[in-house]
Amino acid sequence: MKVQYFRGERIYFRPLEVSDVDRLVVWLNDEDNWATLGRSNPINRLRERAFVEGLYQTPTDVTLGIAAQEGDALIGCCGLHGICPQARRATFGLLIGDRAQQGLGLGSEATQLAVRYGFEELNLNRIELSVFAQNERGIRAYRNAGFVQEGRQRQAYYRNGRYHDVLQFGILRSDWERMHTDDADAFARLASMTT
Ligand SMILES: CC(C)(COP(=O)(O)OP(=O)(O)OC[C@H]1O[C@@H](n2cnc3c(N)ncnc32)[C@H](O)[C@@H]1OP(=O)(O)O)[C@@H](O)C(=O)NCCC(=O)NCCS
Repeated sequence: MKVQYFRGERIYFRPLEVSDVDRLVVWLNDEDNWATLGRSNPINRLRERAFVEGLYQTPTDVTLGIAAQEGDALIGCCGLHGICPQARRATFGLLIGDRAQQGLGLGSEATQLAVRYGFEELNLNRIELSVFAQNERGIRAYRNAGFVQEGRQRQAYYRNGRYHDVLQFGILRSDWERMHTDDADAFARLASMTT
């Protein structure tokens, strides 16, 4: 039976299951994916299965599968990690693992949906993330959802024989609320600023 945990327009979130492990292992070991995720170790089925089996046992980490409304195939996963109950903050991570589904706007939609989930359901005040400076597609997906660049760590990442910068982005609940009000233009100017 179909499980839909949180619905968007073209995608929905659902829990990850052990039956997803084979697909996740293929995506996580895809060179283009692991390079942008900043992983430096391969992931085997055993480890990924243990990861999936350990999910949903703590309120401080929410990892969700992303499925397409059309056809219900799993296309990726995302998460709000390290949720801090005092500061009401979390770190966002995202993978549209199926290459055929990348570049179709689904990563932007998944980011927007996760942000809505974080603010409206988890009552977060701040969501943050780090992204490799060369990852233009990811950066645009995050900006589309209202994330603002807050910092740059120079040469924080090593890949393909050289160092690369890592950018920090964040979105506050107040930013997100402004995006949905008359102040949206002012917020868009803020969101386009870089450091
Ligand atoms: C990064 C990722 C999440 C983006 O999701 P996506 O569904 O592929 O991206 P979208 O289709 O929503 O596109 C986002 C923006 O990038 C643009 N874009 C699409 N393909 C692009 C490309 N090859 N290069 C640069 N920009 C690109 C889109 O036009 C869009 O910008 P716009 O709305 O201003 O026009 C997804 O590609 C992915 O998971 N990649 C591998 C893992 C990864 O990088 N995760 C993020 C780590 S921080």
